[in-house]
Amino acid sequence: MRNIKIGIVGSGGMARNHLSRLSSLETAKVVAISSRNEQTGKQLATESAATFISDWNQLVEQDDIDAVVICTHNNSHGEIAIAALQADKHVFVEYPLANSVDEGEMVLHLAKTRGRVLRVSHPEVVSNTHAALKQKASELGDLLFTSFVRLTPGRGARPEILFNLLVSGIPAHFFVYHIYPIVDMFGDAKWVHGGASYEGLTDSGQYERFVNTITVEFKQGGIGQWSWTGGIVINTAEQHERYVLTEGTLSDDGNGWRCSTPREVTDLTIPNTRQPSIQELWISEIQNSAQHEPCLVDAEVALSAIRISLATAESIEENRQIKL
Ligand SMILES: NC(=O)c1ccc[n+]([C@@H]2O[C@H](COP(=O)([O-])OP(=O)(O)OC[C@H]3O[C@@H](n4cnc5c(N)ncnc54)[C@H](OP(=O)(O)O)[C@@H]3O)[C@@H](O)[C@H]2O)c1
Repeated sequence: MRNIKIGIVGSGGMARNHLSRLSSLETAKVVAISSRNEQTGKQLATESAATFISDWNQLVEQDDIDAVVICTHNNSHGEIAIAALQADKHVFVEYPLANSVDEGEMVLHLAKTRGRVLRVSHPEVVSNTHAALKQKASELGDLLFTSFVRLTPGRGARPEILFNLLVSGIPAHFFVYHIYPIVDMFGDAKWVHGGASYEGLTDSGQYERFVNTITVEFKQGGIGQWSWTGGIVINTAEQHERYVLTEGTLSDDGNGWRCSTPREVTDLTIPNTRQPSIQELWISEIQNSAQHEPCLVDAEVALSAIRISLATAESIEENRQIKL
């Protein structure tokens, strides 16, 4: 099968991760790296025998590139994805899909009209746990309530970027990967109400600690709540999740998923089948795109997820419930 030639934009942690996954595939070859950071960009290009191109606008226009992986910071994903699709490239973009709903809609529109494969880096698509949860939830009646609680001690590898409202958006936006799986299971929200407080917030958008909450009502019924608290004094990160449905409850306190029904409490059975990596899936979809129209269902869910994270930002700013 033909080798898909790839250009990567960004040269940080995720660029390295994607490069390593893609390099392990016989059907893909990373031929160019672009980054505003010349030092790490050139280093990554040298390590992978790829060409370094300082301007990403130039990379997306290259005729010898079929597909572009975008792993820059949150505030440039949408812009680069639009330019790459306009140049008829297939796109793999780190979450969040975009920094505004208009931008996200444009990305999806371009992928559809140009018949390109668009993947957003949400791994649930290839996760056995997510598939098992989705199946079990569909057997347990209607959703009443779902909750997600996360407590994070640190501020990430690049705190000046991660805990920064102007670069990464509000916590709900950089933590959008916890919104995606729930939207994939229960669909779009009818309304969103958010709350946030920041400690040590400066004019450049950086902060030390945060608390961020979201409440939604789903169009299909049921209430969803997320809360994130970060930069706090706690030994290790904690995460608690619940799906409360009319016929039973799925819950995980950090020790694995349990299912409670009126008859019993059991561990959720998660099959151990080998799944492709999300990069492998993207490459095989590109190879099949001449015969089949690309499937954009996951990108649609990624768009629904940023509708919630961005509406949360609006709700916090205006101190009111936002209808979607
Ligand atoms: N899928 C996952 O599991 C996962 C995990 C972590 C993060 N992420 C997402 O992945 C993205 C990248 O995260 P990371 O941890 O790799 O960040 P990172 O280590 O800071 O790397 C980002 C890279 O992109 C470059 N860059 C940023 N904005 C740019 C622009 N406008 N034009 C050109 N180059 C630009 C940076 O240059 P500088 O060095 O000059 O800043 C850096 O080389 C983020 O959006 C994050 O939310 C995903």
